[in-house]
Amino acid sequence: MREPFLFDLAVTHQFKGGTEVRFRGIRPSDEEEMRRLFYRFSNESVYYRYFSTVRTMPHARMQSYVNVDWRNTLSVVGLVGEPGRGHIIAEARYIIEPDRPWAEIVFVVDEAYQGLGIGTFLYGMLARLAKEQGLKGFLAQVLFSNIGMMKVFRRGDLLVKVRLEGGEYELTIPFDEPPSPSVGNVIRVDG
Ligand SMILES: CC(C)(COP(=O)(O)OP(=O)(O)OC[C@H]1O[C@@H](n2cnc3c(N)ncnc32)[C@H](O)[C@@H]1OP(=O)(O)O)[C@@H](O)C(=O)NCCC(=O)NCCS
Repeated sequence: MREPFLFDLAVTHQFKGGTEVRFRGIRPSDEEEMRRLFYRFSNESVYYRYFSTVRTMPHARMQSYVNVDWRNTLSVVGLVGEPGRGHIIAEARYIIEPDRPWAEIVFVVDEAYQGLGIGTFLYGMLARLAKEQGLKGFLAQVLFSNIGMMKVFRRGDLLVKVRLEGGEYELTIPFDEPPSPSVGNVIRVDG
């Protein structure tokens, strides 16, 4: 597999309403900005992202979150505002499984910036990077009520196999199986 640090993660994109977001790889110095983003989340966003009601983000936890091991994790943050003084408004990452070239993917977009297309863009970006890195697919867990996240997966151009397991969707997204135009790209595999 290729080393992820060889990829150029820096890109700027304009979203709905002209909102310009700069994307780059996460850095250890993003700890404070990431903590601010976390404390801006509603309970619903926290629940959707962490699957539990996490109320605090201790220093040690956030420090390990921003100090990624690029050999098994790829994390991209989105910033708005002046370069050098911007605010992080989105983060998406994939974490490669220890025993096979598949990765779990997770996202979060600041509520004030949701619905502009940022989640959809990040999904496309991470899929491209993962393919370039030689990965074979993504895995994701999405709560049943998380309509926004499922919309993002539906909009992508990858096949998404969905299994409903105790109120959660377990998603398997193989990169080598193209979606069928007649069925669409999201298929249920739990009968
Ligand atoms: C899921 C999430 C990442 C999507 O990001 P986003 O930037 O809003 O995504 P996009 O703008 O590309 O598209 C989302 C679509 O879902 C819609 N949507 C978002 N939340 C919704 C909700 N609660 N109910 C219905 N639709 C919703 C948006 O309006 C948009 O549709 P539209 O373009 O037709 O208006 C973001 O909502 C988020 O951070 N949620 C909380 C954390 C989370 O759920 N993480 C996923 C765990 S893997």
